[in-house]
Amino acid sequence: MKAIRFRLPGGLELLENVEVPDPGEPQPGEVRVRVHASSLNYHDLNVVLGQMRSADGRIPMSDGAGVVEAVGAGVTEFVPGDAVVSTFFPQWLEGDAQVADFATTPGDGVDGFACEVVVRPATAFTHAPRGYSHAEAATLTTAGVTAWRALIVNGGLKAGESVLVLGTGGVSIFALQLADAMGATVIATSSSDDKLVRCRELGADEVINYRTEPEWGKRVLQLTNGRGVDHVVEVGGPGTLGQSIRAARVGGHIALIGVLTGVGGEVPTAMLMRKQQRLQGLIVGSRRHQMDFVRALEVAKLKPVIDRSFPLEKIADAFRVQQAGGHFGKIVLEFESARA
Ligand SMILES: NC(=O)c1ccc[n+]([C@@H]2O[C@H](COP(=O)([O-])OP(=O)(O)OC[C@H]3O[C@@H](n4cnc5c(N)ncnc54)[C@H](OP(=O)(O)O)[C@@H]3O)[C@@H](O)[C@H]2O)c1
Repeated sequence: MKAIRFRLPGGLELLENVEVPDPGEPQPGEVRVRVHASSLNYHDLNVVLGQMRSADGRIPMSDGAGVVEAVGAGVTEFVPGDAVVSTFFPQWLEGDAQVADFATTPGDGVDGFACEVVVRPATAFTHAPRGYSHAEAATLTTAGVTAWRALIVNGGLKAGESVLVLGTGGVSIFALQLADAMGATVIATSSSDDKLVRCRELGADEVINYRTEPEWGKRVLQLTNGRGVDHVVEVGGPGTLGQSIRAARVGGHIALIGVLTGVGGEVPTAMLMRKQQRLQGLIVGSRRHQMDFVRALEVAKLKPVIDRSFPLEKIADAFRVQQAGGHFGKIVLEFESARA
């Protein structure tokens, strides 16, 4: 079967299209899944660029969606033909956060979904939402579940609250859609006025260009009559956290998700303390979070925003588009089987 491998020290030019042995039939408790789609995350990009201490020859990509071809003895949750989507932490099934690294994450610590067939424990998948294409389902594993956990699980978002989302990447656009669907007021930022128009079309009530308005935290305060927002979906890290603390209300919640501006730096701790805000880090979520999210998507009839789709073998081109930053929402890979 076809697969992609990356080579250390990393780099898009080192991604290889290879033939690897078929993984065979599932053992007890396992499922065999034909993978039809994956989606790109910033994490996957860091892995293939050699920035995540992953192994030489690893098959990349954390997200995978496809169809169950066979189930091993004892598997009752799935039957052949079911549409499924992978989980980010295959061993974190439910309960409190248990994981602080990527040792068990497909496409990083273990082989991922840039391949045509996998055999994995059944608990490494959930059902995909009814009515979703495989490409749409593949956007849920990382970006979707992260937005869900940030706002709904950790944030306890309620109708009437306000949410600030930073930028227009995969996580932020999911968060915008979820917040809007939940009846929240949404403020979105972007470096691009064209993307901000699209944010408004998707449901953002107010928009700010963070390039032309570097003091966007102050602008958020103005837009909320000096109160600040209830929740911030913080994907920037050290370069944006100061403005996010400014933008959040006293007692507000900042979901610390991303490190787009770097992995360490100055944080205005005194302001965070004075404003008595809750700054909560998170990495994606559990299988239970994903199951709850899938159920919510079916009821709310929300569909992810897919910017572009590439065939599996053009994975390096897909990452180049992500690196250039022109995308809005998700970039996906669709496999030959999905296009047949
Ligand atoms: N903790 C977790 O569980 C988790 C899960 C998923 C992702 N992440 C992290 O979250 C971040 C975003 O991931 P992603 O997959 O959504 O990335 P992505 O799809 O590649 O999105 C990147 C977007 O972020 C925006 N951006 C870049 N610099 C920014 C800045 N200084 N201020 C505001 N926005 C900025 C840009 O939007 P515009 O073009 O509109 O300016 C860019 O298009 C990454 O750091 C990633 O590692 C964490």
